[in-house]
Amino acid sequence: MKMTVIGCGYLGATHAACMAELGHEVLGVDVDAAKIDSLAAGTVPFFEPNLDDVLKRNIAAGRLRFTTDLAEAASFARVHFLGVGTPQQPTSGAADLTALRTAVRELIGHLRGRHLIVGKSTVPVGTCAELADEIAALSRSATIELAWNPEFLREGFAVDDTLRPDRIVVGTDPRHPDSDAADRIAQVYRAILEDGTPYLTMDWATAELVKVSANAFLATKISFINAISEICEVAGGDVTALADAIGHDARIGRRFLNAGLGFGGGCLPKDIRAFAARAQELGVGDALAFLREVDEVNMRRRAALVGLVEKACDGSVLGRNVAVLGAAFKPESDDVRDSPALAVAAQLSLRGARVSVFDPKAMGNAARVFPTLRYAESARDAARGADAVIVATEWAEFVHMSPAELSTVVSRRLIVDARRCLDGDAWRAAGWEYRALGSSAVA
Ligand code: UGA
Repeated sequence: MKMTVIGCGYLGATHAACMAELGHEVLGVDVDAAKIDSLAAGTVPFFEPNLDDVLKRNIAAGRLRFTTDLAEAASFARVHFLGVGTPQQPTSGAADLTALRTAVRELIGHLRGRHLIVGKSTVPVGTCAELADEIAALSRSATIELAWNPEFLREGFAVDDTLRPDRIVVGTDPRHPDSDAADRIAQVYRAILEDGTPYLTMDWATAELVKVSANAFLATKISFINAISEICEVAGGDVTALADAIGHDARIGRRFLNAGLGFGGGCLPKDIRAFAARAQELGVGDALAFLREVDEVNMRRRAALVGLVEKACDGSVLGRNVAVLGAAFKPESDDVRDSPALAVAAQLSLRGARVSVFDPKAMGNAARVFPTLRYAESARDAARGADAVIVATEWAEFVHMSPAELSTVVSRRLIVDARRCLDGDAWRAAGWEYRALGSSAVA
């Protein structure tokens, strides 16, 4: 099948490359000429394991091309995926749909005949109904259907999550139950569905809500365990052993119960705020009031880490050398959007610490956001002369660092495990003071 993917950021570029991998002919479109040039040359403009290979292979096979021209997209295919970003509005926290609306308006201006637009971006409930009215009003020489097919991929696992998803969700126009839109989308995903992946069809509103509810649930799960870790910090429990124990209950499950510095990134924080803002607009703000608490528990983790480091440094970090290992919001990503690691590095710097940051992949992005921090060449370089070393993102290379080797460069052997990812006993055995977020100071 031929299809376009409009918006080639994280979501769109991955989708375009993976649809080509399934054997489709794909045209990726973006307004950003530099991004399109990079993708067309086979270079992914961000770090995502395996995506480079998929991109290069499909460009070489002639199944994948890129353009900035929506007119070309309109004549290339009759199925158009939308992967345009829906960032957070700075004041209200609601989703900003400007780029999405602009892309749809411009696309339909070029469409002739019958087309299917399939949204993948995360949008507030009610967006499809609104967009469909606008499409109907603007499309004179075309019959355009709209469906919503939310994406559940995780950064760091984007290719695998796209090609082997847990489920595929498609929302269609509830006013046209006889539409074949869901069948046409099933054709796109045929190879995936043949593997037994559940294909769940529903109305627009439900599909829009599935996506934000899934992210709200995941964020709540993380904040739940982090709230419990606050109790452990004062009462002396071990939150990791606790998570293991409750996670054995299949109704709870162990995944997403890793206590520590909390969630960041371009999705969970913005999505829970946008969901709460939408509930408010709908007059049911109370229903999602708990998401404000989820957000607050999450942000408190960052403050708790700063407090822990200050306390370990006798009350102040002024003039202290602090190594922050990790800048990305999670391992296997170079994304620093709302990164807890970087937020803590910036806070410590504001409090007068001499902060040295190292991350295996996110140094460029981090330096663009916080140019005033010092960026080291390696974990060892960051730790040179340090009064405290913080592991803020659980990259494998930090998890497997040798305490003995790091001992030779630091000024004081104090390791702070903000992701509860280190072997505390091994660090203590090597003569380090080991402190972990979620454990009492004596633990
Ligand atoms: C998240 C969802 O997991 C995806 O399903 C969704 O498609 C995506 O948002 C999106 O809406 O686009 P992602 O932001 O890539 O994916 O990252 P996650 O793996 O969910 O991690 C989010 C944050 O939670 C990270 O900062 C991570 O360190 C933190 N986390 C995760 C924890 O603190 N504890 C955990 O147990 C798990």
